[in-house]
Amino acid sequence: MAIHTLNRSTFGDPKNAGNLMSIEEANALLNEWVPNERLKLHMKQVAAVMKAWALEKENADEITALKWELAGLLHDADWEKYPDDHCRIIIEELERRNIDPDVIHCIASHGPGYFGVEPVSKMDKMIYAIDELSGFVHAAALIRPTKYEDLDVKSVLKKLKTPSFAAQVNRNDITDALSRIDVSLEELIRFIIDHQKNVA
Ligand SMILES: [Fe+2]
Repeated sequence: MAIHTLNRSTFGDPKNAGNLMSIEEANALLNEWVPNERLKLHMKQVAAVMKAWALEKENADEITALKWELAGLLHDADWEKYPDDHCRIIIEELERRNIDPDVIHCIASHGPGYFGVEPVSKMDKMIYAIDELSGFVHAAALIRPTKYEDLDVKSVLKKLKTPSFAAQVNRNDITDALSRIDVSLEELIRFIIDHQKNVA
């Protein structure tokens, strides 16, 4: 599998600012595009954490929080069906649907090392930080008999230092993402545990 850089720097049309889709519409798209329940759960978890972060930490209004949630919910929508064109296909679909450019840019920049698009807004920077870490926290919860119950930050940190655990999670991406925001690794892990544990 080869992920290609997008070779673009602007996304969506500024005249579509404020043009969003409902969570129901986004879920319908996921149900059509993503048969893999695990991948769908990952996107729902990232969406829940993004929305909660916007509301609790960024003082976002409802529309802004919906943008954060939609970016989380759709960021890997094309990953299963189009692994070689991951990101490009969902971006083009959202452009076709005249979706707000902030949401599209956020999705385009969720892996700067892969897609060649730098995170600019706080929303961009947070999806980059939350994406890998959310998947890692979930892997750490799944191997425990009690799953998320009493999962503490310390045990997640310990697993992060164990390269063989969830080896596909790129630790350098997590470090790079955190260097771009004023949030500690401990704080973000705590926030992720608290806000994705009940997502089903
Ligand atoms: Fe992801």
